[in-house]
Amino acid sequence: MESSVRNHYQASNLMEKIDAGLTAAGKHPQQIDIRDLAPVDQLHTGGIRGTQALLEKLEIPAHFHVLDAGCGLGGASRLMADTFGCRVTGIDLSPDYIEAARVLTHRTGLSGRVQFETGSILALPETPGPFDVILCQHILMNISDKQAAVQQFVRHLKPGGRVVLHEIVAGSHPDLALPVPWAASADISFLEPLESMLACFTDNGFTLEQIFDATALGTRYWQKAGEFARKNQQNMDWPPPLGPHLVFGDTADRFPFTMSQNFEAHAIELIEAVLRFSGPPVTR
Ligand SMILES: C[S@@+](CC[C@H](N)C(=O)[O-])C[C@H]1O[C@@H](n2cnc3c(N)ncnc32)[C@H](O)[C@@H]1O
Repeated sequence: MESSVRNHYQASNLMEKIDAGLTAAGKHPQQIDIRDLAPVDQLHTGGIRGTQALLEKLEIPAHFHVLDAGCGLGGASRLMADTFGCRVTGIDLSPDYIEAARVLTHRTGLSGRVQFETGSILALPETPGPFDVILCQHILMNISDKQAAVQQFVRHLKPGGRVVLHEIVAGSHPDLALPVPWAASADISFLEPLESMLACFTDNGFTLEQIFDATALGTRYWQKAGEFARKNQQNMDWPPPLGPHLVFGDTADRFPFTMSQNFEAHAIELIEAVLRFSGPPVTR
């Protein structure tokens, strides 16, 4: 299963494409601010504003070590280190993404605080954890065994540590329009209803501290992306120099329409949640 997910997130010559996009957008690829990368390194509903809104609800002291589980190109990792001054480790299944994440982090001057590893959240390495906070931003949709993921989090969190979820969950309508950013085919999409997703955590010693239904924001985000695409797709300069198409290829053009359809049909919902581990200490 992991190899099918890894294949979905294969992206050859990613840095060449990003550098060409940055140049076309009038930026010098070696002199970039983390916000310049937002059109391409925030691979989730809501983009950088969604991540910023999530971070505003969290208190992360500078001495904390955060795990960005399924970090993609490291957009949220860099933003957390920049916002809070904390240390961040990003782990992702895709070696292509991790390679790009390291280069981009070096160029934005954050390599001292942000590091990346290729690997699965289902088999987290013993070091460099344990972590104070684990961020799961649009990754659990690709994980069939969510209990196994939560057990890994328990093992690699400090006592009293938190898991922050920013995830797409299953809605009431059973059919998903494809492709979506996390799956071109149904065999690698594992959407779970909110209640059973939260139960995976509370059954393993977590207490729910915050929950926010961001479905309306998510719906609007993709509707606006669809309106923008409809208006501009026939233009010579489509697609814009920087965007998810650099990572996902031409299929990315369809995401605004399938994602709007999925939100409007109640096939998916968008949630934010903070869960604190309050179970017994784990022997590592
Ligand atoms: C939709 S992308 C989101 C990336 C990033 N969190 C963001 O929001 O920009 C999902 C990410 O999860 C990663 N992923 C999927 N299954 C994984 C696993 N078992 N372990 C680690 N990463 C995984 C993928 O490689 C991909 O980068």
